[in-house]
Amino acid sequence: MTLGGDARLIVDPESGLNRYGCSPMPRDEAFSFASSTATSISRHGYEAACRLHDCLFQDETERIAEDRLHDVTSHLASTLTRTLQIDTRKPGVLLSASGTDSQMHATAIVACSERSPLVSVVCGSDETGSGTPYSVTGRHFDGVTAVGHIVEKGTRIQGFPEIQYLGVPFRDDRGRNKSPEELDQEVRQAVAHSVHRGYVVLLHLMDQSKLGCMAPSLNLVDELRQRFGDAVQVIVDACQLRLDMEDLATHLDRNHIVLITGSKFFTGPPFSGASLYPSSMVERWSRTNHRLPSGLSNYLDRCTLPDWLARATPPLPAPADIGMRLRWTAALEEMSRYFAIPRSERIRLLDDFGLRIKRILDEYPELQPIQSPHQRSAINNNGQGPELSSRPTLIPFRIAAPGHDTLPPEQAGALYQLLNQELTQHSMGRHMPHDLSSRACHIGQPVPLGNGLGAAMRISIGARIIAGCRDPETSIVDSGFLKVEEEKLRTVCSKIQFLARAITRSI
Ligand SMILES: Cc1ncc(COP(=O)(O)O)c(C=O)c1O
Repeated sequence: MTLGGDARLIVDPESGLNRYGCSPMPRDEAFSFASSTATSISRHGYEAACRLHDCLFQDETERIAEDRLHDVTSHLASTLTRTLQIDTRKPGVLLSASGTDSQMHATAIVACSERSPLVSVVCGSDETGSGTPYSVTGRHFDGVTAVGHIVEKGTRIQGFPEIQYLGVPFRDDRGRNKSPEELDQEVRQAVAHSVHRGYVVLLHLMDQSKLGCMAPSLNLVDELRQRFGDAVQVIVDACQLRLDMEDLATHLDRNHIVLITGSKFFTGPPFSGASLYPSSMVERWSRTNHRLPSGLSNYLDRCTLPDWLARATPPLPAPADIGMRLRWTAALEEMSRYFAIPRSERIRLLDDFGLRIKRILDEYPELQPIQSPHQRSAINNNGQGPELSSRPTLIPFRIAAPGHDTLPPEQAGALYQLLNQELTQHSMGRHMPHDLSSRACHIGQPVPLGNGLGAAMRISIGARIIAGCRDPETSIVDSGFLKVEEEKLRTVCSKIQFLARAITRSI
């Protein structure tokens, strides 16, 4: 489970957790609202992954035949498109070790068929993965690659052309949120300026960001496509997978490449990514003579490759492990548990838990919810999907700190780490009630807001909270499970408040 990815998967032997505070084994004892970043594997996910593992390794001495692994990968890809109800669009699917890997894959696929100079324009550059400036310019985004090669972070992956980077952050230098109109205007200018200088633009549209925002608007995308045609290729960062299937389908119908993960909203184990390609692009690639960058052999094994890319790819290594397939198996299990609940019920449960979160945050005046203008635009703009696209499932908040308007990012980071630990033997736990000090609580990593505005802490509603409301034996859906999760969230908020007060006293 920890192989077939970068250093983010490495488990610290002391804590048993990776860099994102997740365990590769079920961690039932911890209270988790961390699906904005990553979640420890669930028991159901773990069992599904074990079933695949046991099936592949029936005889311990046997090496898994490559065609068997190729079949497993194709099966995972087709299960994914069926589960997401986009199979009728016949998208191409390239599974990967993480959302960041998929950003790099999509960049490779667009870049290698272009002769013009390239620029990646990233909307929401301050609310995407930290490796994005590297992955979207064809650079190594970590010191270890998905197939275990040691590389130098930041250097160009072999075979990629030079790609410029232009970030369009959601906040300005003063930390103020730009309006949706300002963001559209900034993207319009960045794209127009680049195209006029002869660049082909990889426009990374955010749907949705780390704080639940979407931009630029689809109206602007239409305008840019009309003005500049094929000089603009849209790549949608939907890695949070907090959008509805209607909207996913709309993106594909508009010839957008879409990046998703199974490890954020859907609470599969960290990490699993996929890039989805419109069928017209798949057809083109099946006939192409273009060659993908040779350095992809550091990131892909040959059993991951879909048939439509086979002609274009450099020689790839044999698979060294099955980690990514195990993680995707677990993620698909979470997805199927979520979608086993009828949609009207899912919507009711999402709203119910959203209200419960709001009520709990109201009980803690120091935890101050943040809503940004473009978060509202995510809710209104995309419009079609009535479920995830239309309601917030990421709830960002700041922590008020007496004497400092808000807890500074460094202290917010320390709080986040302490929150996820059992503190009964720790000095910070000394004056804490036992039910708080003994409980590890996991939330999303803090996102620095810049210019003295502190950091956004994040509580998220993940698929697992909704799926837990259904009894698999009887199929009866009962919101009683939400009450259990609500009590867990109250514990999380109490521990945050306790730690925030202790940390503020010590600043
Ligand atoms: C919006 C968004 N895009 C991309 C990523 C990168 O995905 P991954 O963590 O799977 O590499 C993240 C990570 O948090 C993200 O929030």
